[in-house]
This record gives sequence, structure tokens and C-alpha cells, in this order.
Amino acid sequence: MTATKKRIGILTGGGDCPGLNAVIRAVGKTVMHEYGATLIGIEDGFEGLVEGRMRELGNRDVSGILNLGGTILGTSNKGDPWHYPVEVASGKVEIQDTSYKALRNFKQAGLDTLVAVGGDGTMHIADKLGDLGLQVVGVPKTIDNDLAATDLTFGFDTAVSVVCEALDRLHTTACSHHRVIVVEVMGRYAGWIALHGGVAGGADVLLIPEIPFTWDSICRKVNERATHGKRFSLVCVAEGAKLPDGQEVLRGLDNKRTDAKQLGGIGAAVAREIEDRTGLETRVTVLGHLQRGGSPTAFDRVLATRLGVHAAHCACRGPYGVMAALQNNEIVSVQIKDAIAKLRTVPADHQLVRAARSLGTGFGDEA
Ligand code: F6P
Repeated sequence: MTATKKRIGILTGGGDCPGLNAVIRAVGKTVMHEYGATLIGIEDGFEGLVEGRMRELGNRDVSGILNLGGTILGTSNKGDPWHYPVEVASGKVEIQDTSYKALRNFKQAGLDTLVAVGGDGTMHIADKLGDLGLQVVGVPKTIDNDLAATDLTFGFDTAVSVVCEALDRLHTTACSHHRVIVVEVMGRYAGWIALHGGVAGGADVLLIPEIPFTWDSICRKVNERATHGKRFSLVCVAEGAKLPDGQEVLRGLDNKRTDAKQLGGIGAAVAREIEDRTGLETRVTVLGHLQRGGSPTAFDRVLATRLGVHAAHCACRGPYGVMAALQNNEIVSVQIKDAIAKLRTVPADHQLVRAARSLGTGFGDEA
């Protein structure tokens, strides 16, 4: 008797991120070549699962996409089946529990396992589907690098490279015009992108959510540099850094999203305050989605490939309810529940924070 071909579903959820296509390629090639399984691509994250939008992916679909940014499947951060925006008769949008639709479509498509590639929000949903009996396997993705139980997520290295290049370019203008330039970077509630990007690009002040800052401390650093003949400074601020009164700066709230808060705007607030307090000409640059676009770095391609191959093996032969993770440079399986237990933020005494302080970099908390 011949065993029936396994059918593996794959989706990419949350914000796009360099390396997603490298994962789809790695999962696809492994399940097809090593297990003779069929790969079903689910469109636009969990939206496609709720709405039954999926298609078979063949060898050709998963070839030639290693270096491609974005995701060939599409993605969404509004697809939580338990918190799904549905337009009702009045034309209004209501948030409803549509998880029964996701389960029904999974079964109707004859899927054995779902590979969910995403960040914190995607892993929470994958975990809930696992609790309902679906075989799920996670692959950690996010430029924010804030998932627990893995040392790194793919996409982070590419985002850090973008920040580094931007700081290099802004450095010349800051220096030539004797200006302070504030650069706002992404990262949600974690300061990893600002910390690594800022150190790589030689920022003079680094502001991250994990270390509260004061205006006095930032301005003292900037003025001190000016009195030592450096009449310019680069300030790298994470979008999630909080103002001295403890407030986050939001550019909006969108209740349809898994996380309603849309961070953004702290760069302008910091620039305004520095200019007012020091009198130094100050500019702000918000890097925004440039950090998520384009080709993944070689490092992210390798990491995405390793994670994807591992997830494919799990998808075809178990264990389930796990996420592929990088720990001590080995790819291992961790429980999805462990990955979502808490957000991985920067410890205030992290080795890289201490190293930056040794170089004289300010974190806005120095007396
Ligand atoms: O999680 C990735 C991320 O780029 C965050 O760094 C940022 O806060 C958020 O997504 C932006 O989301 P959107 O693309 O929906 O504006």
C-alpha cells in the first residue's frame, strides 16, 4: 500500500521581512524533494486560511526567490481568526471570532500540517490553532528580533544593515553642516535594531525602550561633544522608546490589527527638544519601511534557509507545536508556547550596551 502524499500548508503572517521567500523556498524544496509532499501556499497570512484562499506551489514557484524581498504569498497583520474584521450588513466593520472558518478550511484543503512563518502575533495564533488540535510548526520572523526562545530572527540582520548604511550617509551631512541628526528606527517594544544599528553606524546617543532617558542627559552629551570640537551628533532612537514622562509616541491606533498600536513620531519629538534646548540645528530622518524592504543579507538568507529546512522536517514527521529556533548557533525545536511566553527585550546591562558606554555613547540616562 502506498502512503498518501502529505499536504503541508505554509503562510507568512505579520509585517513582511527580508528572508520570507528564502524560508518558503527551503520548506518547499525540502518537503517536495525529501518527502514527496505537496506544498499548499496560503495567501495573505491567516486571512487566507479564514477565507479559504490557497494554491498549490510547485518546484517552479519556490525557485529563484532566495534573494527576493517581501513574500510571494502576501501577508497581513489583520488576519487573527479570533479577532477578525468582518463587514456587516450596516456597512460597519465588526470584530468577530472566525476561528471555525480557519479550522474548516484547513480540513477541507486536506492539510496535514501548517507551517506558520511570523513573529509574536503569528506564533500566538499558531499556538491557539495547535491547542485546537492542528499540527502546527512555527518559523520565527521579525526585523524586531523580539521573539523569546531563539537567539535571532531572520530579517534583523538586513534591517540593521539598512540602519548602519543610513547612519553612515547621515554622518557626512551632520558633520558638514554641524547639525544634530536624529534617526528614528523600527523595533516595536524592543531596542535591538537601534542598539545594533546604532553601534554599527557609530551613533553618539542611543535611545531604546528598555532604558529611560532624560532631556538633560541627551543635551549634555550633545553639548559636551560640541565643546570638544564635534559640533555634530547622531542620535539613533527606537520607535518604542518612551518620552521622559513614560509616554510612548503613537502615529495611530488600528483596532483591526493584532496589535492596535502604531508606533512612530518619537524622532520628531526628540529633535524638537534637542534644538530648543541646545540651539543646535537639528534634523530628523525616519527610516520606516526601508528597513523591511529589499533583498535579505547573506546572513539572513542562510538563517532563513536553515530554519526553513528544519521546519519542513518537523512538518513532515513531527514534533508539532514547535518553532524552529537558533540557539548557540544550532537550529533546534522549541515549544511555541516558550517563544511567546514573553517578549525578548534588551537587558539594560546587555554586553553591547556596556560596550557602547565604554566608547562614550550616551543612552540618555547618564548623570
Ligand atoms: O514588527 C515589524 C514592524 O516593522 C515594527 O518594527 C513596526 O513597529 C511595525 O512592524 C510597523 O507595522 P506596519 O508596517 O503595519 O506599519
